[in-house]
Amino acid sequence: MRFLVLGAAAGGGLPQWNCGCSNCQDARSGKIAAASQSSLAVSLDGRQWAVLNASPDIRAQMMACPAMYPQSLRDTPLASVLLTNGDIDHIAGLLSLREQTPFSLFATAEIHEVLKENRIFDAVSPEKVERKRVVIGRSFDILPGLEAQVFPVPGKVPLFMEGEQVQTDLVGEQTVGVRLSDGAKVAYYIPGCAEVNDDLLTVLQDADQLFFDGTLWQDDEMILSRTGTKTGRRMGHISISGPDGSIARLAGVAAAKTYVHMNNTNPVWQPDGPERAFVLAQGWSVAADGMEIEI
Ligand code: MLT
Ligand code: MN
Ligand code: ZN
Repeated sequence: MRFLVLGAAAGGGLPQWNCGCSNCQDARSGKIAAASQSSLAVSLDGRQWAVLNASPDIRAQMMACPAMYPQSLRDTPLASVLLTNGDIDHIAGLLSLREQTPFSLFATAEIHEVLKENRIFDAVSPEKVERKRVVIGRSFDILPGLEAQVFPVPGKVPLFMEGEQVQTDLVGEQTVGVRLSDGAKVAYYIPGCAEVNDDLLTVLQDADQLFFDGTLWQDDEMILSRTGTKTGRRMGHISISGPDGSIARLAGVAAAKTYVHMNNTNPVWQPDGPERAFVLAQGWSVAADGMEIEI
């Protein structure tokens, strides 16, 4: 399996248009690399690709990736898109893929419902782009020879669909992780996860490679940095650090582990910072746009 990180950042990207935090300033000045919004591409042969989550930056992400260029007049190496939730950073890129070229669009019934309720997505022609319903626990071919399966992870409904009361640890079809297997190796992609519970640890037993939610370094990061008022928990994202954080909870998972979907406030963006050093020392890598991983 060949993975290509199309976008390593969480919603908003790095820098985010309205953010003057130190990371965003450093990304604007070129001191650290900028990063686009959350998406991962996977291929077996380098010719046909599946894209896991369609970010608002997908046009530029495909432009930066020659493997994604058309080979003839109207054509794309993009065979399929799979959505892991209905958040804007994971679905808005579908609107850039509306030009009448077929691909398969995989999602759970609940995530397809988000698209159905928002009529702008009708622009992605249902005649050309087949909306395929995936069922938790049931395998399907995301590409020829590449088997995928989705499973529930604790999360919440999309931000723009939140009501008065928000349950942030819903386990169902609204937030899923993906298991990918080519028959030899197994990879997991989980860009949004509120909590690492024991069920998830059991699921991850056979992982060779894990891409996991690295949104925040610590739960109160947005409050401390005065960029927001919500905790990570309230946003449906587990933190990297701390006793209940992903480093501690996933320490027993013997896979190669890579953080994705980092918020622009996250100190792990700083390549020379202590947080990055800690993460690397714990055996994790931190994704960057254009990063390639082969297993
Ligand atoms: C998230 O991951 O929490 C969402 O992408 C937030 C958003 O939609 O802005
Ligand atoms: Mn997101
Ligand atoms: Zn920022």
